[in-house]
Order: sequence, then C-alpha cells, then structure tokens
Amino acid sequence: MKKITIVGAGRVGEATAQLIAQEDLCKELMLMDIREGVPQGVALDIQETAPLLGFDTKVNGCHQANGIADSNLVIITAGLPRKDGMSRSDVLEVNINIIDDIVQSIVKYAPDAIVLLVSNPIDTLTYEAFKRSGFDRHRIIGQAGVLDSTRMASFIAMESGLSAKDIDAMVLGGHGDTMVPMIRFTTISGIGIEYLLDAELIEDIVERTRNGGAEILSLRKNSSAYDAPAAAITAMVDAIVHGRKRIMPAVAILQGEYGLHDMAMGVPCVLGDKGVESIIELPLNEIEQKMFDESATAIRQDIDSLA
Ligand code: 2OP
Repeated sequence: MKKITIVGAGRVGEATAQLIAQEDLCKELMLMDIREGVPQGVALDIQETAPLLGFDTKVNGCHQANGIADSNLVIITAGLPRKDGMSRSDVLEVNINIIDDIVQSIVKYAPDAIVLLVSNPIDTLTYEAFKRSGFDRHRIIGQAGVLDSTRMASFIAMESGLSAKDIDAMVLGGHGDTMVPMIRFTTISGIGIEYLLDAELIEDIVERTRNGGAEILSLRKNSSAYDAPAAAITAMVDAIVHGRKRIMPAVAILQGEYGLHDMAMGVPCVLGDKGVESIIELPLNEIEQKMFDESATAIRQDIDSLA
C-alpha cells in the first residue's frame, strides 16, 4: 500500500503508527493532528527507530487537512477519550463534530480511501461516517471486536494457564456494556471453551471482557488503553493491506444482515483489500439473539440522539 494516514496523534495513534511502520505495511505513513508540532514530533521519533528495527516506511507528520491527500487508507483515532466513570456514549456529542470534520477532509482529499474508525462511541461514529461520506459501505469499517476478542482470549489464557496462541475468542455486538461475547464460537485449538472451563469461570471471563476498557482506565486513571487497541488496529490493517481475506469481528454497516438496517455494529466480516468484502451471518441461539437485540437498541438510541 502506498499511503496510510492516521488521524489523531494521541496515545492510540502513536502506538498504532509505531506498529504499522515497524511492520512495513505502507510506503508512507502520515500522522495527522490539529496540534501543530505534535504529529511532526511523534513521526520523527518513530522514524528514528527505523535503523534499529529495520523498516523502510517513511513516517511524516502534518497538522493540516491536505496531509490526507492520496491516502489509500485513513485510520481515525482522534476524539475525546472517556474519563473514568464515563460510558463511551458520553463522548458522542463532542466526537461527532470531530469525526464530521475529518470525514469531510477525506471526501475532499482522499475520495478513494478505505476508512477505519477507532474513536468512540465506535458503532455510532462508524455509521455516521458512512452516512456523511457517501462512500460505499465496504470502505467504512470500525475497530472494536478485534480488541474485545483479544481481551477475552487473554483472560481465557490467564485463567486456564494455556497458551494464548491457541485461543480464538469472538466478541460481536456493540463496543459497550452490551457487547456480545460468543461463547459457542470461542475455542482453544478448535475445542469449544465449554469443554475446558466451567460455566462459572466462563461467566467471570465474559464479565471481565465487557469491562475490559473500563478496567484499564480505572487502573491507569489518566489514560484509556492504547497498546492492545493499537495491536487490534494493526491486525485489521494487515488483513486489508495484504488482501488476506481474514474473518475478523468488525463494525460494519448493516443493510439487512442480522435483521438490522441503517446502523453499524460488530459482526464477523471478511477483511481484504476492498475493506469489508462480506459479512458472515451466524445462526444465533435465543440467548445470543437477545444480547444482539440489546446491543442494537443501545446503538440505535445513540444514532437517534443525533437526528
Ligand atoms: C477500550 O475499550 C477505549 O474503547 C476503548 O479500551
């Protein structure tokens, strides 16, 4: 890929830039932020790791919108992070305006780009970016499920003592209190976790996963998570850049899938060089369907609050 732009040189933007550069996922990596000097400084700092880490990506910084020009992929991390005690929806009012400005710049300067959103509340902002950009839905994607799934897999590894490498967790639904950890589709080397862990422990893991972001925030006090989010974003970017057609949970625009219309939510997607290449519809059991419905209702409330 020729050019990737990361909008927002905060902690998530910076950690993501380091990983993307290090993995040589593009020729040019642009870090953009409205704070003049910050993106340029962060970019230079990362560029100076190239001789030690051995990568060729050119890392640049800019504080003006035209820095996005000709990007093939734009990752949006900008926005107000939530503070301890806040829900992700509490930052919607501020972040919708930030995202709107960025989307307009993408439409103007990089009209063919794939857009990967990260800022919260992710499901609502992904849908609004779709509406406001007019882009085809396969080019607008949100990151949430890959992060929630790696958290769930980590907790399973910690509790079971088994290798994290063998654990495949799947978390769908909205990125909030109503997220939907899919126990039936979570495996250790292909073996359903229900065969290996007792029900009570699985319930604790599910609860901890739901609170995964809040747990980090309450421990760190002044910062949300950024290392695991950066790794999650980079995994999705890798799938897109290399056209891998990986099945990953992603926030996708729904037009009838799972019986939902005109909204975005975490569902299993095939990610490849066109973005979301297809959405996989799993047959849900009664309990999963109920959790999906609750997630959809919570997201719908946020979307309606903007109307
Ligand atoms: C998280 O879950 C901040 O939503 C982000 O850590």
